[in-house]
Amino acid sequence: MCGIVGYVGKRQASGICLDGLKRLEYRGYDSAGISVLTEDGQLNSLKTVGKLSILCEALQQKPLSGALGIGHTRWATHGRPSQENSHPHISGNSRIAVVHNGIIENYQELREGLIRDGVKFASQTDSETMAHLVQKHYDGDLREAVCRAVRELHGAFAFGVICADSPGQLVAVRRFSPLVVGIGEGENFIASDMGAIRKETDKVYVIDDNEVASLTAEGVELTGLDGAAIEREVFVIPWPAEAAEKGGHKHFMHKEIHEQPDTIRACLTGRVASPDRPIMLDGLGLSEDEIRNMRRVVFTACGTAYHAGMTGRFLMEKLARIPSEVDLAAELRDRDPMVLDHTLCVVISQSGETADTLAALRSMKEKGAKILAVLNVVDSSIARESDGVIYIQAGPEIGVASTKCYTSQTLTLTMLALYFSQVRGTLTEDELRSYRQELLRLPESAKVLLAREDAIREVALKHYERTDALYLARGVNVPSAMEGALKMKEISYIHAEGYSAGEMKHGPIALIEPKCFTVAIAIAGEVYEKMIGNIMEIKARSGPMIVVATDGDARIPDAGVDPHAESDDFSAQPNDMVWVPPMPEMLSPILLGIPLQLLSYHTADLRGKDIDQPRNLAKTVTVE
Ligand code: G6P
Repeated sequence: MCGIVGYVGKRQASGICLDGLKRLEYRGYDSAGISVLTEDGQLNSLKTVGKLSILCEALQQKPLSGALGIGHTRWATHGRPSQENSHPHISGNSRIAVVHNGIIENYQELREGLIRDGVKFASQTDSETMAHLVQKHYDGDLREAVCRAVRELHGAFAFGVICADSPGQLVAVRRFSPLVVGIGEGENFIASDMGAIRKETDKVYVIDDNEVASLTAEGVELTGLDGAAIEREVFVIPWPAEAAEKGGHKHFMHKEIHEQPDTIRACLTGRVASPDRPIMLDGLGLSEDEIRNMRRVVFTACGTAYHAGMTGRFLMEKLARIPSEVDLAAELRDRDPMVLDHTLCVVISQSGETADTLAALRSMKEKGAKILAVLNVVDSSIARESDGVIYIQAGPEIGVASTKCYTSQTLTLTMLALYFSQVRGTLTEDELRSYRQELLRLPESAKVLLAREDAIREVALKHYERTDALYLARGVNVPSAMEGALKMKEISYIHAEGYSAGEMKHGPIALIEPKCFTVAIAIAGEVYEKMIGNIMEIKARSGPMIVVATDGDARIPDAGVDPHAESDDFSAQPNDMVWVPPMPEMLSPILLGIPLQLLSYHTADLRGKDIDQPRNLAKTVTVE
């Protein structure tokens, strides 16, 4: 996840790009850069490693002058944060500058081809490929050159491209990564999101996949990759400039919940290409033989990441048939675990800096385990000490309560289990194909879930004043229940507990009373019947009940309802429903976080809490 901006008009492009980048810094802050075309046709660039403030200072020392420019703020994916890996990337002839958000899946192949043609690469990024490809295809028409280059690409991208030989023209294109064109008077803009340019204009075109925008100061032309003109209605941004940083959302947490169709797609990109192609996972630091000979996998993490690890443990054992366990990082080291040969320790962390997780990693490494980290932030302490790293590609997460990173961690661990199954032959090719097909559907299912937000807010409205909550599930969704409860307690301060529904009768059932609501996960699948039994037990004790169930389920709304009970008794009332589309049970933990996050979010909002910075909590915990 990176942020891109661009400007063409009569004013100084660098200031406008910089201002836009400030509002996009939430998308990445590993490095930043701007390229501007001067009036005499020079392409000048400035790039700095680290936060945008460093680029601001550099620009004060060395201003860039010109009325056509592009800018970028980076969240490293291919290649570490460094000067040469910073955008904009420049073509070999120094005439073309490119900014990119996304991942070019086939960049290695393209890069090798270009190198054979004599091109010299200056960076390790996938993005630089585009600058050279545009040069290769340029014969006087920048829009056409961009279209030809894009036809060679697989993957996800939004690009902004300028060329010293096409002064006054900015070309942008997208496939799967967000892109808007801002419409001004005598000037036009591009950006990764509306918030970046809201200060300049409230009129935008929202660009779709495989659409190209060619901008000049005077106008914007939208076409398909084949050059056919596209008519698009102008979208008027409905929120004021002050709301820009959060892209019109009331809280970062809300924004991040809504980013999930994109972050899920980013996590899949380059890994699951089609139902017929095997899953690819780079950076594992494990040979196929090592995976075949693996005898034990230990997952460890803290907080939300631990819940993702619980799902990882379940799926690694169920699908890849490797004895697996999961432990809280703070506990793993203290129990002095026995590490036999061929043990893999999977360490999960958003920040890569959590002190307990780092300590657990070091102790497992010392005992001879191989370490594989599942991380979001690049170049962290955990990354440096691990044998292999898989990045979840979710971009910066600002809300203290983790949302999109939980979903992407769970997705990554699911892909890991499936990848191990592929190598070890524990699933048939048909089963694997079906999983890959379902994985590719996840971004769309996430959109469907988000579209149901209003109904979830209605449910929150009925229960937000209660004091306690119990989250119940069985099997692969026990971690979903625990994460749902954690989210609820973190931001709404309602006392919430996540439990295996099987354990309910051994304690939590004593909590059931009208002030304690229960959230039961009872989607279609292996544990469905047993969940209905648990729902009935709670209804029989007059507990308010919210059920997460599969669309079309006719049994659940009235499960456990006693028509003879007093009308104000919860036993007499139908269950409140959170409906979800049908999904394979084994993949459901990836998606079920979303409605549960929305339920917590709206509960906390109705209670008037400080959602992005809940009391006593920190985003990164660097003390044990
Ligand atoms: C803190 C955060 C949580 C996070 C946990 C682990 O408690 O508030 O959101 O899950 O740390 O952090 P990590 O960066 O290792 O994932």
